[in-house]
Amino acid sequence: MPNDTLTIKDNRTGRSYEIPINDNAIRANDLKKIKVDDDDFGLMTYDPAFLGTAACRSSITYIDGDKGILRYRGYPIEQLAEQSTFLEVAYLLNHGELPNQEQLKHWTDELTSHTYVHTNITKFLEGFRYDAHPMGMLLGAVSALSTFYPDAKNIADPKNRYLQRIRLLAKAPTIAAFAFRHSRGLPFVFPDNDFDYIGNFVNMTFSIGGRHKPNKVLQRALEVLFILHADHEQNCSTNAIRAVGSSHVDLFSAVSAGIAALYGPLHGGANEAVLNMLDEIDSVKNIPDFIRGVKAGERRLMGFGHRVYKSYDPRAKLIKEIAYEVFEQTGLNPKLDIALELERIALEDDYFITRKLYPNVDFYSGLIYQAMGYPTEFFTVLFALGRMPGWLAQWEEMVIDSEQKISRPRQIYIGSDERPYVPMGKRQSTVSAEAG
Ligand code: SDX
Repeated sequence: MPNDTLTIKDNRTGRSYEIPINDNAIRANDLKKIKVDDDDFGLMTYDPAFLGTAACRSSITYIDGDKGILRYRGYPIEQLAEQSTFLEVAYLLNHGELPNQEQLKHWTDELTSHTYVHTNITKFLEGFRYDAHPMGMLLGAVSALSTFYPDAKNIADPKNRYLQRIRLLAKAPTIAAFAFRHSRGLPFVFPDNDFDYIGNFVNMTFSIGGRHKPNKVLQRALEVLFILHADHEQNCSTNAIRAVGSSHVDLFSAVSAGIAALYGPLHGGANEAVLNMLDEIDSVKNIPDFIRGVKAGERRLMGFGHRVYKSYDPRAKLIKEIAYEVFEQTGLNPKLDIALELERIALEDDYFITRKLYPNVDFYSGLIYQAMGYPTEFFTVLFALGRMPGWLAQWEEMVIDSEQKISRPRQIYIGSDERPYVPMGKRQSTVSAEAG
């Protein structure tokens, strides 16, 4: 008996089946031969939210949730955070290798030449309410890019796909900065390509009359935060992009689906939710009461827990270190004490220990963004900017993966059996129906 197979005995029929095991997985499709009657569809797997289902093969990011390992194309996140730049990491994620000097320069020059957006995008953004959430603005503007670049529909052409990825990676900071300026009622500051990628974003965001005097420590801290957010294998937003992209819609439309997913408070929206939670707690003395509410299931400790990490999120560890460097420049964020005490208590409390709940990437990042001068509702936009290169690399990998097809799961039907149409006159009135 070969040992890389699963022997399954169907007790309904007494029949046995050999299912091959590859990469510690079985193909769900191999279960279809397990039937009771020949006209059965065959056995399916049922896995709501994909707790135990691999949807693709990927060579981009590796995570070991128990050991707290995160690597981009094999390079440990700790080394990239310390020694690399965001554009170099973006190149690595999208090309598979670290660039040489010439490749990095070409990549940087290409991005620099695509930072402007069509001026109609500014009109589109000005159409939002003054208090529009910037994630809603980013979502709308990125999907609108599909109407400015109809050539993006030609996803069969690798060169075209590459151009669209360059366009989106280059324009995302411009759109994000415009959303920030709109929320402040300030005129848009257009890209100034004398700045580097991060410097340009900071200038477009914060410049008031002339150039923004950048704080190099804060700028490097923002760059490291972007590096730490750059990819994270098959998270909710990446999965959304892969699923929507599998219909062969253009890149901008597919990525807007990822932005929508990231917007949610259980995903990227958690960094905003953490700050709102710290505001609500307001003082260290209120923490025990808050924790009681969490343990009673009345609410979640935002910024804690993870589907994959069942130990400390390696990014949270690095972000916590960055926090101290930033606060040396900006002054201590008073909410840090609440966050540190919340973490200390949670890491000692059985409820969190038994559920393997640790701080994740979102727990400390918001404190840093706030200290840098970003409003709470802008934090998830910053997450999206960091994640953009990973999304683009994952989309490209999906498009060229010969095993992938349009994403279309099956279901287990639990609805009504066939029943005859009921003419209006014979239907029960709402009251008696509800009572019924
Ligand atoms: C990101 O997937 C990624 O990689 C995402 C991300 C990325 O880089 O792309 O890492 C970014 O989204 C990080 C996560 C940010 N979200 C939050 O911080 C929101 C708070 N955390 C959660 O809601 C939750 O932990 C999730 C969504 C992150 C993970 O949810 P799971 O894996 O579905 O876990 P679960 O909801 O099934 O919870 C398991 C148990 C439950 O208790 P029981 O029902 O078994 O009693 O743990 C409890 C949950 O109630 N639990 C929490 C909790 N998270 C889980 N209880 C209190 N506070 C929490 N934060």
